[in-house]
Amino acid sequence: MRILRALMSNNSIGKLVDHYSRYSPSPLSIKQFLDFGSENACEKTSFMFLREELPVRLANIMKEINLLPDNLLRTPSVRLVQSWYVQSLQDILEFKEKDSDSDKVISNFTDTVIKVRNRHNDVVPTMAQGVVEYKETYGTDPVTSQNMQYFLDRFYMSRISIRMLLNQHTLLFGGNVQVNPAHPKQIGSIDPYCYVTEVVKDAYENARDLCDRYYMNSPDLKLEEFNSKEPNKPITVVYVPSHLYHMVFELFKNAMRATMELYGDAMEYPPVHVRIILGTEDLTVKVSDRGGGVPLRKIDRLFTYTYSTAPRPQMDTSRAPPLAGYGYGLPISRLYARYFQGDLKLYSMEGHGTDAVIYIRALSTESIERLPVYNKSAWKHYKTMQEADDWCVPSKEPKDMTTFRSM
Ligand SMILES: Nc1ncnc2c1ncn2[C@@H]1O[C@H](COP(=O)(O)OP(=O)(O)O)[C@@H](O)[C@H]1O
Ligand SMILES: [Mg+2]
Repeated sequence: MRILRALMSNNSIGKLVDHYSRYSPSPLSIKQFLDFGSENACEKTSFMFLREELPVRLANIMKEINLLPDNLLRTPSVRLVQSWYVQSLQDILEFKEKDSDSDKVISNFTDTVIKVRNRHNDVVPTMAQGVVEYKETYGTDPVTSQNMQYFLDRFYMSRISIRMLLNQHTLLFGGNVQVNPAHPKQIGSIDPYCYVTEVVKDAYENARDLCDRYYMNSPDLKLEEFNSKEPNKPITVVYVPSHLYHMVFELFKNAMRATMELYGDAMEYPPVHVRIILGTEDLTVKVSDRGGGVPLRKIDRLFTYTYSTAPRPQMDTSRAPPLAGYGYGLPISRLYARYFQGDLKLYSMEGHGTDAVIYIRALSTESIERLPVYNKSAWKHYKTMQEADDWCVPSKEPKDMTTFRSM
């Protein structure tokens, strides 16, 4: 991989990556995404924006991939992922000099966008596989784990953002219809009137199906909604329903598993309690279970990639998807929440249960993409060695108090 890296920095693609990574990505707000899809926007506007923006986003994250440990870069999985990024960057850059007034060019570009999107379908499991192989072969130390977590958060976030751009373009301009037949109200993947309760119920039903398969039973749903802006109206938000679905579905699976594991063969289970609250700034969705909770000491760990207390699922596509086991549920859900300036947090009461809270910006002008940028501070993260902790490490054996007395 050193060789490939050397090649990359010598040949033209390496130079291109260097060049485009010097630009910072331009974050868009949900409002701006909607304007792209409004009547006066056209495929050409989107084309001209994407042929500038996609190379910048791709190159920024490609620079960070290059900073991964050599042994990780050498794994077949990571090589494969890297080759996809190189190919896609090249594909998009072919349109740099092309005539933006030609319908043919613009329609070819849309085909390329679809091709790029499909090429990157399996990036998450492939990169995850590389990390697992690397950890199994070379073990891991705290510094490497921390770097890996830092990298994966940024890498997957970059991917979410690139897919958002690709999806908007193909949903709005791919094919002849500009209306998504499954969701006529949606502008691409954004729903200007996303009924939060409906998404929550849908995610609950699907998680419950999985739970029923594994445990032959499942907890009920208790749902409450409070709209502080317009008290008798159902809560809607301008958002990407598939992102919201992803987050609540993961939280439901976790809440159900915790409940079922704690209550075992009992015939009745405490329900999963969801509260949806709309305030002036925030839309908050709280998913509470009584599945026994997690001690505070372990909460941060739950957000690390591949951390799971469930057995690793068999890779058998003929069976139903697993309820848990990859350890990607929480970290990826938190990225979706953060992507538009929200967050996802866990508050647990060990011995009782867990509250998982999703925060989303209530205003579409405030929902602005949160994007990683490659620069000196990012670079430093990968290069700094472990430094001594600036807080004392508590000793397991308390000092003999007599020594204090004599001091
Ligand atoms: N509501 C919850 N109650 C108790 N433990 C939880 C809860 N949510 C998550 N966890 C713990 O966090 C781990 C990681 O969760 P997640 O990232 O969704 O991965 P997975 O569900 O695949 O294990 C779980 O394996 C479980 O141990
Ligand atoms: Mg999970």
